Amino acid sequence: MSVLNSGPVLLIGADGQLGTELRAALAARGITSVDSSRDGTLPQGDSARPCDLTVPGAVAALISDVRPALVLNAAAYTAVDRAESDEALAQRLNAEAVGEIGAAAKRCGAKVVHYSTDYVFAGDANRAYREDDAPAPQSAYGRTKLDGERALAASSAESLTFRLAWVYAGHSQNFLLTMLRVAAERDELRVVADQIGAPTPAHWIADATLRALDAGLSGLYHLTPQGQISWHGYAEAIFEGAVSRGLLARSPRLLAVTTADYPTPARRPAWSVLDSGRLDCDAGIRLPEWRQGLDEVLDQVAGKKD
Ligand SMILES: NC(=O)c1ccc[n+]([C@@H]2O[C@H](COP(=O)([O-])OP(=O)(O)OC[C@H]3O[C@@H](n4cnc5c(N)ncnc54)[C@H](OP(=O)(O)O)[C@@H]3O)[C@@H](O)[C@H]2O)c1
Repeated sequence: MSVLNSGPVLLIGADGQLGTELRAALAARGITSVDSSRDGTLPQGDSARPCDLTVPGAVAALISDVRPALVLNAAAYTAVDRAESDEALAQRLNAEAVGEIGAAAKRCGAKVVHYSTDYVFAGDANRAYREDDAPAPQSAYGRTKLDGERALAASSAESLTFRLAWVYAGHSQNFLLTMLRVAAERDELRVVADQIGAPTPAHWIADATLRALDAGLSGLYHLTPQGQISWHGYAEAIFEGAVSRGLLARSPRLLAVTTADYPTPARRPAWSVLDSGRLDCDAGIRLPEWRQGLDEVLDQVAGKKD
């Protein structure tokens, strides 16, 4: 029997980009999760269990109260640039709180699903990163996320961790929605062309998570779509798809720039391509090409506007 049907499912970070899609995927399977957010609210006005992960012991108390069979942790400190000057808070959320989740889950026999990032790698490889490649984070965010992976593993709770990259959806805050907003305001945009990755729709991650749980997977897996593109190429595809759906009247002029032309507080990996072959091999889960995901999310955005 899938762990999804063996007891309560606790969803932490239920109001985030991925949390929202996990909630939807669970609901589509008829599973009502116990949802938690920092302040006890959810976007559509639903209520959730309040839990501020910065408060030591808060998440452990929540877990021991709910006694879940499964904890899905979609919460994180995700402000990559801000983390450079706020590493202690990022460490608290991305590492210490994850260790607490693991320890509390272990005590009540729950499995934990957790999400990590391509930023654990240096980004200088010449092939797609595999799960057992040596991490070498170049940013505070990457360091704290790697510590989170390790804290969860050290808790010895049964766990499943996915490393993700370039996550987006038709809601929340992400590159796609930023591009659509600024394209409506400006005639010309500069976007970096020397960082390569695979844009990943959050609803694909949510679906793959449930399928992996049905398959009984544990351990560390990379989870990205097929193919790869630069941020500049991704922006081009966004504008093409947005114009064809009437989301934009016209495409702005798009200039390719280098990372050196566009300095940011955090160093980002130039090469964020992850090899998701282990997930395919172990559970037959293989995400389609990233462009198909973009079409699906742009259709959702266009559907909301109608
Ligand atoms: N986005 C990406 O491109 C990307 C790439 C690779 C990996 N990931 C990983 O994927 C996972 C999901 O990311 P996402 O894109 O869904 O992030 P997101 O939209 O920023 O969501 C983060 C969630 O964490 C919650 N949170 C932050 N501080 C909290 C606190 N003190 N107490 C309780 N909750 C708190 C947020 O709640 P509030 O709304 O209250 O702040 C929000 O629900 C994360 O583990 C992230 O590291 C993301």
